[in-house]
Amino acid sequence: MPTIDPHGGTLVQLLVDGSAAETLFEEARNLPTLVVSERELSDLEMLGVGALSPLTGFPGEADYHSVLETMHLQNGLPWSIPVTLSVDEDGAHRLGGADAVALVAAEGSQPLAVLRVTEIFKRDRAKEATSVFGTEDLEHPGVKALQDAGDRCVAGTLEVLTLPPHEDFVAYRQTPAETRAEFERRGWRTVVGFQTRNPIHRAHEYIQKCALEIVDGLLVHPLVGATKADDVPPDVRMRCYEALFEGYYPKDRAMVSVFPAAMRYAGPKEAIWHAICRKNYGCTHFIVGRDHAGVGDYYGTYDAQKIFERFEPSELGITPLMFEHSFWCDRCEGMASPKTCPHSEEERVSLSGTKVREMLRDGERPPQEFSRPEVADILIEAMRD
Ligand code: ADX
Ligand code: MG
Repeated sequence: MPTIDPHGGTLVQLLVDGSAAETLFEEARNLPTLVVSERELSDLEMLGVGALSPLTGFPGEADYHSVLETMHLQNGLPWSIPVTLSVDEDGAHRLGGADAVALVAAEGSQPLAVLRVTEIFKRDRAKEATSVFGTEDLEHPGVKALQDAGDRCVAGTLEVLTLPPHEDFVAYRQTPAETRAEFERRGWRTVVGFQTRNPIHRAHEYIQKCALEIVDGLLVHPLVGATKADDVPPDVRMRCYEALFEGYYPKDRAMVSVFPAAMRYAGPKEAIWHAICRKNYGCTHFIVGRDHAGVGDYYGTYDAQKIFERFEPSELGITPLMFEHSFWCDRCEGMASPKTCPHSEEERVSLSGTKVREMLRDGERPPQEFSRPEVADILIEAMRD
């Protein structure tokens, strides 16, 4: 028995199979096509597998504004980031009044899904940027991606023929139904989800293991959709996670699976969205540490924790586990945070991301109080190519 309901109560499943798929495929071949961008393909995949339950497609204009203004869908459920399928003005004209379109990954390729179009509406870029990212600054990678996307959104319900094909991490691509089944098989009644777009260093490991002290299982759930160019690529990160699991994690209490979403860098709003998605994957708890989903200094260190106060715990369902900035303290001789360590900054190992990158590039392992040597070696190796 799953111990947490999906968002909205039902796990959405948009993949069509059997003879219905054949009929749909025939229909799709005769429909106008729409080429979906890499980031939106990630959303299509998330929708297809039910990671975005209760969404059954790309929501319309009323939901779009409701999400931006109230962080709730029109039906009253919490939802913090609009999920949209973009076209430019020409594209919208080309679709004309079509009530169904075939979604493709590239011009001339096989249809992945059919979208039953309910409306095409105009995006409000300024409103969306301000609401989601808290800024209209084009230096912000999320604002930049928004700027580059078409300014019309095609809304409608989705029927998926095949998930966007992947050659990487095939063994790690569990759907929400599959992670839920796996948790049940392992007898985990409470599971904490961990979002990451980075290699796992000692601070990440520490907060995961603190959480694991109070729940049955840990799902390390690295995001493998689009990230900004200077983030560590997912294949390198995956090797780090594997090495770490090999050496330091209890296999019957922890597992890795991938999260196909693209990164928004929306800080607090993305923390809410990440939590809702992980609830769909079956997690009962979700880790929110320092500057979750942050970039540069657009958000306050704990803004992504404070935003949870704006929801009733019962409407989110999943329980956030908040952690303060963690580090190694020489005097404590262990990992700690300001919540547990009384010592001064000088006694703590603190390295900036820039400093760590510099060390790795020079072939130098950061101290083992910062990063496990196995992880450091993989990162050093990757910097060489
Ligand atoms: S991200 O999606 O939030 O950008 P990242 O890999 O940087 O991913 O962080 C993963 C999780 O660990 C987030 O919840 C983040 O807040 C938390 N975190 C990262 N570093 C620390 C730290 N030193 N102390 C506490 N929490 C941290
Ligand atoms: Mg971070």
